[in-house]
Amino acid sequence: MGTPAFNLHAFRAAQRAAPLSDFARELFAGLSLGSRSISPKFFYDVAGSALFDRICELPEYYPTRTEVRILTECADEIAAQIGPNAEIVEFGAGSLTKVRLLLDALEAPKRYVPIDISGEHLEAAAARLRADYPHVIVQPVVADYTMPLVLPSRDKGAGQRVGFFPGSTLGNFSPDEALAFLQLAHRLLRGGGLLLGVDLVKDPALLHAAYNDAQGVTAAFNLNLLRRANAELDTDFDLGGFTHAAFYNSPMRRIEMHLVSRRAQTVTLDGQRFAFEEGETIHTENSHKFTVEGLRTLAVKAGFRPAAVWTDPDHLFSVHWLQAA
Ligand code: AVI
Repeated sequence: MGTPAFNLHAFRAAQRAAPLSDFARELFAGLSLGSRSISPKFFYDVAGSALFDRICELPEYYPTRTEVRILTECADEIAAQIGPNAEIVEFGAGSLTKVRLLLDALEAPKRYVPIDISGEHLEAAAARLRADYPHVIVQPVVADYTMPLVLPSRDKGAGQRVGFFPGSTLGNFSPDEALAFLQLAHRLLRGGGLLLGVDLVKDPALLHAAYNDAQGVTAAFNLNLLRRANAELDTDFDLGGFTHAAFYNSPMRRIEMHLVSRRAQTVTLDGQRFAFEEGETIHTENSHKFTVEGLRTLAVKAGFRPAAVWTDPDHLFSVHWLQAA
């Protein structure tokens, strides 16, 4: 029997019948809404993650270096709250850099459990960490940390189980999602606590600059979502037909990022055409800002007992120690 001829029609039909990826499904649903939106979780493909790393180095983007400064300068006080032989569980661990500040400060940390959705990236970062901290058991878990998950059982003789959630990623959740995440974290960390970094409410001009940097890296990060859709989902977004917009929504205490259509145009996804008017937007991210009291109130709602809080001298960023009794 010869090789069967390639049948483009059958191939396309099979593709249509194949289940859509999460990205395709959520983009389709988001474009079908009156106010169009897509979850910011889709920013982080390889190119988007590299752009985010560049954002963290920008002069205007103060959160990363301010949080690192707090974790460094307050390391002894943080270590005193946590105590010896701790087990650190990091939610959305990424490249495992900030945890090094904790591991350096803690007394005999026993185990580190980084949780991340990207397995390959996580294993490589875990191997580097093991080499640098040979006395710490590094046990990565590949999972979506916003879903209920099972952690490795605790070691005999271990100290507190401590959640670590830096970077103000909590601010990218809706208020309901933030509460649900904190409730889930509380269940996992009972008897220990959560070390949580969140960005603070501040002068809108500083916020505006942080999300509209002069080099245009944040704009490239936002627009990368459309490039990713074209590459992975076969959409036909005209990258020059959309522009980055970020502004502070003061009543909602959040930065909103949007992609704004520069002109009337249509985009096709999975055979469906979506028409855009000039000025119409796709809402791509919310980055909520907190007051110290507001965060502590939210934590109490989730079952935590807020204890210490550390900030920088300019009150740009905050790190909270929340006990999970
Ligand atoms: C990851 N997250 C906390 C960042 C933020 O500030 O909300 C993502 C980001 N978006 C634009 N710049 C940085």
